[in-house]
Amino acid sequence: MKKNLKSLLSQNKFILFGGKGGVGKTSISSASAIWAAEHGRKTLIISTDPAHSLGDSLDQKLPKGETVQVENVSNLYALEINPKINLDEYQSAMNVNPLESMPFGNSLPFMEDIGSFASMNPPGIDEAMAFGKVLEFIETESDYDLVIFDTAPTGHTLRLLALPDLLSGWIGKLISLRLKLGKIFGMFKKMFSKTEVEGEDPFEMFKKLKNSIVNARDELKDPSKTSFIIVMISEAMALYETERLLSGLYQYEIPFSNIIVNQIFPESIDCKFCQSRRNMQLKNLKEIRYLYEDDFNLIEIPLFDTEISGYEQLKKLGKYLFQ
Ligand SMILES: Nc1ncnc2c1ncn2[C@@H]1O[C@H](COP(=O)(O)OP(=O)(O)OP(=O)(O)O)[C@@H](O)[C@H]1O
Ligand SMILES: [Mg+2]
Repeated sequence: MKKNLKSLLSQNKFILFGGKGGVGKTSISSASAIWAAEHGRKTLIISTDPAHSLGDSLDQKLPKGETVQVENVSNLYALEINPKINLDEYQSAMNVNPLESMPFGNSLPFMEDIGSFASMNPPGIDEAMAFGKVLEFIETESDYDLVIFDTAPTGHTLRLLALPDLLSGWIGKLISLRLKLGKIFGMFKKMFSKTEVEGEDPFEMFKKLKNSIVNARDELKDPSKTSFIIVMISEAMALYETERLLSGLYQYEIPFSNIIVNQIFPESIDCKFCQSRRNMQLKNLKEIRYLYEDDFNLIEIPLFDTEISGYEQLKKLGKYLFQ
């Protein structure tokens, strides 16, 4: 059964809005967050786009990396994540070369693991940081009834959604490497030292991290908890991008059931230019309906004659989203 936007916002825990650049993801995320908050759900809206514009949309200064209450909407909180935080730590971790300090040559049994580990590309920093935050909110069963993710344009978001598999594979390799190395180091330790060195084991931390990633992946795949809502405009380029996004969502098994077609030119008798753009859009709209009507709730939103920023405008957008 296709859940409509209202039921998703009333029942689900995680909603992600995504699509091509500039199509209206942030505006629609914000309008949806206001609707949910005003319908009694304690809601957090998070921008995972490093080029944030959530603050502009809500018409409120958002200190980067800090969750704040949205003015005039009780129950609504907003966060623009800050990818710069922890960057240094991340970079120094990424620069560690496990082979550098090894005098054994490459004949030992774990060399194969090191090889396949090293050949796995590390994630991009922006996506990794964004995912870290996503993980945090999914993991902690946070204080919020609903978490809305205003995502970056398609490419970045698909890399973000690929991370659970990539990272858990990666950490899995690290763990198995550690198990093999552990035996050898254990042997060395027995030979040369009588005292056991106790301490925080970073690999225990990795194991925990792997568990939380696997849990988060399960939550993201669960249609009773998560839904990805595609925002697009009625243009050929946006159609191609939607197909690309959909195949990514299939691949990562992220549930979806709604497509929002935004910025449709209204009927116009005295503007030839507007009417000709409208005709182009209507032609694409026919194609969009033909392709998606059976499997999706399609929501069509007109192009407004103003920018959409601040509470009043977002409420106006909401009228079209929830009518
Ligand atoms: N239906 C609409 N009518 C008029 N203006 C709109 C509409 N939807 C969005 N806009 C405007 O278009 C611009 C882009 O919208 P928005 O920031 O929501 O898109 P986005 O997909 O989040 O962009 P980005 O990919 O840069 O994050 C904003 O100035 C917004 O006010
Ligand atoms: Mg945006």
